Amino acid sequence: MTERHFIPKPYSANVESGTFSWSSPSNIALVKYWGKKKNQIPENPSISFTLNQCKTITKLSFSKKDLSTALKATDDFSFEVFLDGQKSDAFKPKIQTFFERVEVYLPFLKSYHFKIETENTFPHSSGIASSASGMSALALCLMSVEQRLLGGVEASGIEMTDDYFNKKASFLARLGSGSACRSLEGPLVVWGEHGSVEGSSDLFGVKYPYKVHDHFKNYQDTILLVDKGEKQVSSTVGHNLMHGHPFAQERFKQANKNISEIKSILETGDLDAFVKLVESEALTLHAMMMTSMPYFILMKPNTLQIINKIWAYRNETGSKVCFTLDAGANVHVLYPENEAENVLKFIKNELVAYCQNGHYICDVIGLGAENIL
Ligand code: PMV
Repeated sequence: MTERHFIPKPYSANVESGTFSWSSPSNIALVKYWGKKKNQIPENPSISFTLNQCKTITKLSFSKKDLSTALKATDDFSFEVFLDGQKSDAFKPKIQTFFERVEVYLPFLKSYHFKIETENTFPHSSGIASSASGMSALALCLMSVEQRLLGGVEASGIEMTDDYFNKKASFLARLGSGSACRSLEGPLVVWGEHGSVEGSSDLFGVKYPYKVHDHFKNYQDTILLVDKGEKQVSSTVGHNLMHGHPFAQERFKQANKNISEIKSILETGDLDAFVKLVESEALTLHAMMMTSMPYFILMKPNTLQIINKIWAYRNETGSKVCFTLDAGANVHVLYPENEAENVLKFIKNELVAYCQNGHYICDVIGLGAENIL
């Protein structure tokens, strides 16, 4: 598939207005995406667990602009954004950029006025990025509009199957925020072309298509909120610093190799190998940040305290608990379901002290976005 497959045929239905709602979760990468080419094409493939509790719920209402009274009505995008019921202009520039990037694939965007009402299930300033869940929820709502406009006919010569709907929604979400393309399905999604994952693409995320051992069923992710503040360096800036980074090419090679390795780990259920790969990926991501120019550190002292405590606990108990990090100070503690009771005790007794205001979120691997009727 190429980008051209996502340019639709002329719309056949005349739709005045409507409303669609989707909920879409966040995701946590096991093999990380860090570094991109033009148009949000990743430098290396990545794979993530889809989360279940940390979600964005977005309601998109749309109504046709009155072209007779406003001749220039089609010149601009027209939309308003509400976060938790409050009008919010803070997100407007991001959505404006998103609309500009996807307009060629959604040619109806300038014909309607949109009201975007969005809320997150996770606390507002928790340091958990809402871009993956938020952009995927919005992309899905827009796909529902397109589906209605196509009136059941084929889109770009391709039948609007669930598969096409999901792929295009993921494709659009990617143009909003790269990792957002991995939030639509679950429990595992691969984004970025890799020879050992059939159907994988740089353009959209695909549901991991191979056997996964029972050890990974209902895998737990407790997110320790170490620092709820705004990141000092955005992901966009971080990705860009991979251009000309002295270790970039080795890193991209390593990520490709780790995708091959995680495939056999997921199949055999080798949790020791899983722990090594996932922790190495997390530390490599942060090593890239520390060795770019300019360099930066997103981990906080408490991030390291937690990591050391996890290592000590594993040594003492033989537990398979491990950590991963995204582009921030918070720690995702990953562990199999059968360890939930013990690990939660450990978290409460030994790790909560390092969380800001003692806050953490218990999540579990989920199945992706849902249409809310
Ligand atoms: O989707 P972005 O541009 O915010 O980048 C996310 C990058 C990481 O979260 C650090 C890694 C990943 O693969 O999700």
